[in-house]
Amino acid sequence: MTVLVTGGNAGIGYFVAEQLAEAGVEVVLGSRDAAKAEVALRVLRERVPGARASWARLDLADLASVNGIEVGGLDAVVLNAGVRLEGPQRRETRDGHEMSFGVNHLGHFALTAALQDRLRPGARIVTMGSFAAKSAKLDFADLESKRDYQPKTAYERSKLAQTLFALELDRRLRAAGSSRLSVVAHPGGALDRLTPDRPPLHVRGTKLNLARIALQGKDGGARPAVRAAVGPDVHSGQIWGPRVFGLKGKPRPEPVRGPYADAEAAARVWAASVELTGVEPVFS
Ligand SMILES: NC(=O)c1ccc[n+]([C@@H]2O[C@H](COP(=O)([O-])OP(=O)(O)OC[C@H]3O[C@@H](n4cnc5c(N)ncnc54)[C@H](OP(=O)(O)O)[C@@H]3O)[C@@H](O)[C@H]2O)c1
Repeated sequence: MTVLVTGGNAGIGYFVAEQLAEAGVEVVLGSRDAAKAEVALRVLRERVPGARASWARLDLADLASVNGIEVGGLDAVVLNAGVRLEGPQRRETRDGHEMSFGVNHLGHFALTAALQDRLRPGARIVTMGSFAAKSAKLDFADLESKRDYQPKTAYERSKLAQTLFALELDRRLRAAGSSRLSVVAHPGGALDRLTPDRPPLHVRGTKLNLARIALQGKDGGARPAVRAAVGPDVHSGQIWGPRVFGLKGKPRPEPVRGPYADAEAAARVWAASVELTGVEPVFS
């Protein structure tokens, strides 16, 4: 079994890869940076002796890089990489899309299209959502925040667009009679300072932290995605998140409701994404 993890060189993505490797899965880290990918692979192999792991160049802010990804057959892909910008300056990808929407949503939309011939029968496409998506409102007249750019709003919109994409993909897979699954996972609240050390990839500062009562580390945040990618009793169209108030704890399926249940909005996100990327994931 082989799984591609985007942003597998750091944060939650690294722990998704580590936990998959511990389970005997072959992992491919999608990374835009060779040096970071090599460090992550070294740490991963130290933690999991005998791990089958490699990396593939992938810059989600560059659709040519996404379309040119070099990977073989896959049993799952975890669409994990993400940017959460701060500061007032609106930034754009190489293709001129607003950075959060472009990397988090459009990059992964295009990647799903690029991988369509490499995702084996029964493969799972796992999209990393966020509880932040629940409060987002999409502005279809301004999906890329050209007017009144706010980094927090742009991030939340990108995560809602990703979630709606994944649920629309589920409907399309079913309609096409495909054996592939589209599942959403979200990590709850996963903080670097609650994350175990993986030097030199990650070294935590303060060891005692009250945030642990309500939140978790990035190792914990990885678990819903790992469950969604390779675990039992996973169904297309589900959302997996942490058990305790959706913030920490063991993974469990969550109800698909509120903005997530808006199939009309999901269809509009899909159509806009086809227009903006020039590609469309099609599975049979
Ligand atoms: N942490 C949380 O509490 C939380 C909560 C809800 C949802 N999430 C979601 O979980 C995912 C991972 O979050 P995290 O906290 O682990 O973030 P992180 O520590 O900042 O890691 C983000 C990863 O994405 C990669 N990335 C960023 N831009 C990229 C690009 N253009 N092309 C390819 N890779 C790129 C980064 O690579 P570089 O190292 O090269 O920058 C890094 O590997 C994100 O989708 C995030 O929205 C996180």
